[in-house]
Amino acid sequence: MPLAAVWLLRYSVVMCLLLHSLVLMTTCFHHAATACSKNCYCSETESEGKTMRCSNLQLTEIPEDIPNDTRRVYLDFNLITAVPTNAFASLTHLFELDLSHNEIGQLEPGAFRGLGSSLQFLDLSSNKLVNFNPDAFEGLRARANLTNNPWLCDCNLQMALPRVDLEPASLTGIVCQSSDPEEIGVQGLSFLLEPDIDLCVVMKRTTDVAMLVVMFGWFTMVISYLVYYVRANQEDARRHLEYLKSLPSRQGKSEESSTISTDAITNINMNGWTKQY
Ligand SMILES: *[C@@H]1O[C@H](CO)[C@@H](O)[C@H](O)[C@H]1NC(C)=O
Ligand SMILES: *[C@@H]1O[C@H](CO)[C@@H](O)[C@H](O)[C@H]1NC(C)=O
Repeated sequence: MPLAAVWLLRYSVVMCLLLHSLVLMTTCFHHAATACSKNCYCSETESEGKTMRCSNLQLTEIPEDIPNDTRRVYLDFNLITAVPTNAFASLTHLFELDLSHNEIGQLEPGAFRGLGSSLQFLDLSSNKLVNFNPDAFEGLRARANLTNNPWLCDCNLQMALPRVDLEPASLTGIVCQSSDPEEIGVQGLSFLLEPDIDLCVVMKRTTDVAMLVVMFGWFTMVISYLVYYVRANQEDARRHLEYLKSLPSRQGKSEESSTISTDAITNINMNGWTKQY
């Protein structure tokens, strides 16, 4: 009797444990499949909607399974190096995106595509951004934090800035770490707050020189043609003048010949008429 009771007790305990772990596993898988990326922490509140926190997880890439109704995504303090095209395209409700303190050196064209109407805050501070790629920000009107990146201020950057719709204050975060041309001295300055600096001036100068050379070439060609033309015609003019000088003595003869020729023409015409009838 006591043996049977012990056996029953053991059996029921094992069954209970098995059942328990099964329930745990299903809830766990369910959770992963529908609500949150691996190792990330997800929460939801009435006012803020869904939030996903994946901070400080040594991630090297942006997770691909972020639930499409997430409103806030924190991917800060990771090892992400690039934001590929359409990285967040399915997240049409995304309001805030934090990518700060990563190793991002490249934003591919269309990196934030699909977020134009929803995204309000984009944090790209403390990354490795050197060049500003306006195609990465296409359609985006968010306020972006672009501070603390090793920006290279050059003509490309100057041309790119007017091509984005980001909230204008965002661009004051582009503080030049280096510049091209180097001697222009914008290092440590916010590029947008230095309106007098024209980094394309060097390029303009070289195009100006090229224009000048081309124009000079044309000018030389025109002048030499004119000189040639005048020389050639001087010869002609001189011959013409000599001819004119000799005219008075030959005038009588030429008048005679002209009357002859008109007679000849009338004759031909008459012949023509007679032939037709
Ligand atoms: C999320 O995706 C599912 C299926 O893929 C779709 O039915 C749903 O409408 C999407 N939700 C949003 C907010 O886009
Ligand atoms: C931008 O990011 C830097 C560092 O990550 C932070 O100190 C600063 O307060 C942020 N600026 C804004 C306007 O949020």
